[in-house]
Amino acid sequence: MCGIVGYIGEKECTGILLDSLSKLEYRGYDSAGIAVFDKHDKTIKTIKAKGRLKDLEKKMKGEDRLYGCCGIGHTRWATHGEPSDINSHPHGNARVTIVHNGIIENYKKLKEFLESKGYVFESQTDTETVAKLLDYYYDGENPIECIKNVINEIEGSYALGILFKDYPDTIYAIRKDSPLIVGKGKGEAFIASDVPAILKFTKNYYLLDEDEIAVLDRSGAKFYTKFGELITKELITADFDEESAAKGGYEHFMLKEIHEQPNAIKMTVTPRVTNGMPDFSECGLTEKMLSGYKRIFVIACGTAMHAGTVGKYVIERLARVPVTVDLASEFRYRNPILNKEDLVILVSQSGETADTLAALRLAKNVGAATMSIVNVKGSSIARESDIVVYTHAGPEISVASTKAYMVQIAVFYLLAFQLAYIKKTISKDECKRLVSVMLKVPDIIENVLELSDTCSYVASKLVNSENLLYIGRGLDYALSMEGSLKLKEISYIHSEAYAAGELKHGTISLVTDQMPVIAVATQRELFDKTVSNVKEVKARGAKVILITHKCMSVDEEAADYVIKLPTIDDMLMPMIGVVPLQLIAYYASVLRGNDVDKPRNLAKSVTVE
Ligand code: M6R
Repeated sequence: MCGIVGYIGEKECTGILLDSLSKLEYRGYDSAGIAVFDKHDKTIKTIKAKGRLKDLEKKMKGEDRLYGCCGIGHTRWATHGEPSDINSHPHGNARVTIVHNGIIENYKKLKEFLESKGYVFESQTDTETVAKLLDYYYDGENPIECIKNVINEIEGSYALGILFKDYPDTIYAIRKDSPLIVGKGKGEAFIASDVPAILKFTKNYYLLDEDEIAVLDRSGAKFYTKFGELITKELITADFDEESAAKGGYEHFMLKEIHEQPNAIKMTVTPRVTNGMPDFSECGLTEKMLSGYKRIFVIACGTAMHAGTVGKYVIERLARVPVTVDLASEFRYRNPILNKEDLVILVSQSGETADTLAALRLAKNVGAATMSIVNVKGSSIARESDIVVYTHAGPEISVASTKAYMVQIAVFYLLAFQLAYIKKTISKDECKRLVSVMLKVPDIIENVLELSDTCSYVASKLVNSENLLYIGRGLDYALSMEGSLKLKEISYIHSEAYAAGELKHGTISLVTDQMPVIAVATQRELFDKTVSNVKEVKARGAKVILITHKCMSVDEEAADYVIKLPTIDDMLMPMIGVVPLQLIAYYASVLRGNDVDKPRNLAKSVTVE
């Protein structure tokens, strides 16, 4: 949550900071602010405003513009203290000013200490404590010593960009449990919470590791351990450019990302297929390792957890290996029974989700093997897992996850095929057949994307509802969970996903003509049973949208609208069936006039508990 940026170079930095922040607004948009070393009097000048970046820009037009070549910026997702001008970052004073992403867990204790030393607090934020603690330790001469002292005292997660009054051409940065990269251009250097923020200016960057200190000036960056020892770091070049991180003519990132799914699947799957068979050896996952795991735990949050649920159905069905799916936030606190023969799979687009990261650390502590399915290269979860299978979806900017889900399930399919082959529950021929079907999925999705108008029409029929149900059985239930989350997070229509057979155990009492039902029925062996449940809700007045295979004949009375999908193996239908669900949610959000890519109260990367 929150995005931070920084620039030091020859150019005026205000525009650069604002541009970089615009690429990070997906991380939070409760307020924004920048601090710049004024190039005339070398003092730190700050301007900040509640609301979106555009509100800050508006404010800047009304006030003196900041002129200087060194500055830091912030876009906020509020945790401590309501969204307001005063709680906005940067925080600090004339000597030390900071931007912060993360949470300082012991801020109350530190605040009491600082108050006892005469400091007066203005905001309700945890961040102000760090700004004041830096000021307390800063002797006017040695920023690194000051930072070392502060690192020893603060607990929690942080990525910090820091300006010290006496070093007007330098940015200091540190991180722990919150992401931060250091960009290197010609005669300039950057900090940012994520790579897209700097791509307009450079593709070269360093990944700051836990507890490292970066010192940036026009010549680039130097890195130190938290003990102050100088270290060298590898310069990385981003494998995507600014254009692929931009909207590319689509009205919203979400729509663009939905359309990028066929390519994302190809990029993710092709490198993991050798001679028609799944092959994860490039990720360090060998057949020998796979054959040894007795149980699998899949841990994730939100959409990534829904991808894991599809994984569970497929792995259990094909490979007969027991799979438990847990919400990362629950897993940590339920004292899970894990041992060395278990494989724990962490799924995360960002690779920075705090709960998932904590679950990974817990699994490692008990000696379980850990593997992550992660989209962002070099993210914390990727770095700390024993094995990483990167998904190659490219940057996902829209808060609502679409293409990341698609490639996460693609990886689960390949894994299930390989595991089933190793466990001898399917033959080599069957394994090859399944892989070949999967390789056709991108083209099939291209066809499904042509159903956009139908999905938009269906959305127009739902858009005035306050509540909605998604129902399905088996894999269709897993899919319903994702459809429901997508709808509620961007359209703000309340919805729930129910296992179709479970409705009659309570929830059906909610069904009236005011409760539309989206029924997903792509599993042919369960089709008749799901249609029976559809009839039950229809009989109680519900408007029904049925999503099924082209090949299924549907009784005209059964549903009000039917979306017919191309037919492939039922097991792979979630990859096809999720597309209309994403499109319905997208159009519902557009029709309601919502900010599709930045839904209220949410942030893309949830680096707090
Ligand atoms: O970055 P992660 O995949 O770990 O994020 C997990 C969830 O926060 C994320 O999937 C969230 O549920 C999305 N907004 C859903 O669209």
